[in-house]
Amino acid sequence: MEPAEVQRLEQQHEVWRSLTECAWELAGFGAGQTIVDLGSGPGFTSRDLACLVKESGHVVAVDSSTIATDYLRSIVKKKGMANLEVITADVADVDLWAWEPDGVFARWLFCYLVSERKPGFL
Ligand SMILES: C[S@@+](CC[C@H](N)C(=O)[O-])C[C@H]1O[C@@H](n2cnc3c(N)ncnc32)[C@H](O)[C@@H]1O
Repeated sequence: MEPAEVQRLEQQHEVWRSLTECAWELAGFGAGQTIVDLGSGPGFTSRDLACLVKESGHVVAVDSSTIATDYLRSIVKKKGMANLEVITADVADVDLWAWEPDGVFARWLFCYLVSERKPGFL
């Protein structure tokens, strides 16, 4: 993922942020919960979710791109976001239940999975 793609996703996030927050409200996401952000990319939603669940909650950001996850790890370290865990993995290979999530979120991910879908996922 090139720096330009990170910048593009950030701009796109700003445009879609309020609708995304509406979806989280409808889903009942809130303080103290564990939320998994599948295909998190550089983590613009993961970081907002980490603020939403507050320090008592836990967000797990999962993405297969090392560039995206390394980028997010550097932000997490810089900002000291102890409630945001970053995992580099294909979403088809993770056991979501290991985190006992209260909710799972994914934005702009499933269109990438259709051609590479593995048995047992979805
Ligand atoms: C368009 S970006 C969306 C990023 C983020 N969800 C957002 O809303 O800003 C799609 C992301 O899905 C990730 N992705 C695609 N296929 C994946 C897979 N099989 N497992 C994990 N991540 C995947 C890509 O690496 C990329 O970061």
